[in-house]
Amino acid sequence: MEKILINGGIPLRGEVSISGAKNAVVAIIPATILAQDVCRIENIPNISDVSMMIRILQQLGAGIKMINKNTLEIDTSTINSYTVSHSLTRHLRASYYLLGALLGRYSCARVAMPGGCDFGVRPIDLHIKGFELLGASVSIEENAMIDARADVLTGSPIYLDQVSVGATINVMLAAVKAKGLTVIENAAKEPHIVDLANFLNSMGADIRGAGTDVIKIRGVDVLHGCTYSIIPDQIEAGTYMVAAAATGGRVLVNNVIPKHLESITAKLIESGVHIEEYDDSVLVEAVGRPKHCNIKTMPHPGFPTDMQPQISVLLSIADGTSIVSEGVWDNRFRYVEQLIRMGASISVDGKLAVIQGVETLKGAPIKADDLRAGAAMLIAGLCAKGTTEIENIIHIDRGYEDVVEKFRLLGADISRVTVENPSQIANIV
Ligand code: EPZ
Repeated sequence: MEKILINGGIPLRGEVSISGAKNAVVAIIPATILAQDVCRIENIPNISDVSMMIRILQQLGAGIKMINKNTLEIDTSTINSYTVSHSLTRHLRASYYLLGALLGRYSCARVAMPGGCDFGVRPIDLHIKGFELLGASVSIEENAMIDARADVLTGSPIYLDQVSVGATINVMLAAVKAKGLTVIENAAKEPHIVDLANFLNSMGADIRGAGTDVIKIRGVDVLHGCTYSIIPDQIEAGTYMVAAAATGGRVLVNNVIPKHLESITAKLIESGVHIEEYDDSVLVEAVGRPKHCNIKTMPHPGFPTDMQPQISVLLSIADGTSIVSEGVWDNRFRYVEQLIRMGASISVDGKLAVIQGVETLKGAPIKADDLRAGAAMLIAGLCAKGTTEIENIIHIDRGYEDVVEKFRLLGADISRVTVENPSQIANIV
């Protein structure tokens, strides 16, 4: 087991290149199942969630060829199973996309309940409702296997009671080869929804309206292989932007789509950070101490919940009091306990955090509770005075490619070391 060591207090300077989007690729890899052909996917981030998804496809019988570190060829013509066991799904929330993809291909899927980050109850009732409206019967067996099967999948209007990224994607996957027209209303609009629709359309699907709250999917009989490049990761970009601001640095964040970053950029500007946007990069420059501001997380194009822990670190050293309201998940402030250990002044009441900015954070032994909490711990360690040790970095590796190397290139004093006694720090909190 490894941990990350940071000697903080160094302003980040230089350029960083953003990798492909995790939440797009974890939908696009299962989507290749629908092609029964060879797909070449480029700009794949080298992260553990991708390795896990690849393992699942291999177990199903797919042929995977690694062309280089970020390009894969996936041959799904050889898939010979529609069952995915608990041992494969328990670490990965996105494993639920296997349900939609296998159902779309075989009209039958058996997939164990997904794992993933723990921030409260994570229901999948809307996914199930969507499958049922397409004509599938869905049951959850005693061993937490979800069984979905249909004689024939038929397009249908589907209103999602709540905006859900996962349900929108799963319905798209199941509906793309169904008979007739599916209309998803109150669909999620995140950039990765659009990326998945573009990918499916490159395979011959007929999907319109992705990126708006009404998505129309006209079922086609056959999909074919294609070559596709994943969009840059909005949240990885936002994480480096906030890290630059929090350390008092100046960083050019390359390979981004600035439009996807608008809500993050707006809040950084509000807290006094200087931002310049270019075609595919943004320059982030801290100007003095950050100012307080209020944040409410919402589905896209609102401020992303997946940036809430990171921006809260910036606000914890800002001038004044900020209020952060979590509008998506029930329990996404667990990481606050770690920041308090570093000297932050934050009180949490349910889905609300009141952050009283302090002059500086102090290095401490801390742990990553989940992926974005882990990203927040990195930023906290980078701007804190003294040494920070972060345990449970397995969460960070799920979603950030070469994170230590990228921060080191920006001048950070950061390294990965082997932990001899991992329980020591984990037990402190
Ligand atoms: C996706 O999770 C992302 N994961 C999450 O990113 C992200 O936090 C989340 O969307 C919101 O943007 C992936 O893309 C793999 P939802 P997902 O369905 O799809 C409720 C990260 O750090 N809901 O949009 O699971 C749910 O409880 C991760 O990269 C239902 O009530 O999220 C939540 O309150 C973590 N019933 C809200 O909808 C359902 O059937 C939004 O959830 C489904 C969801």
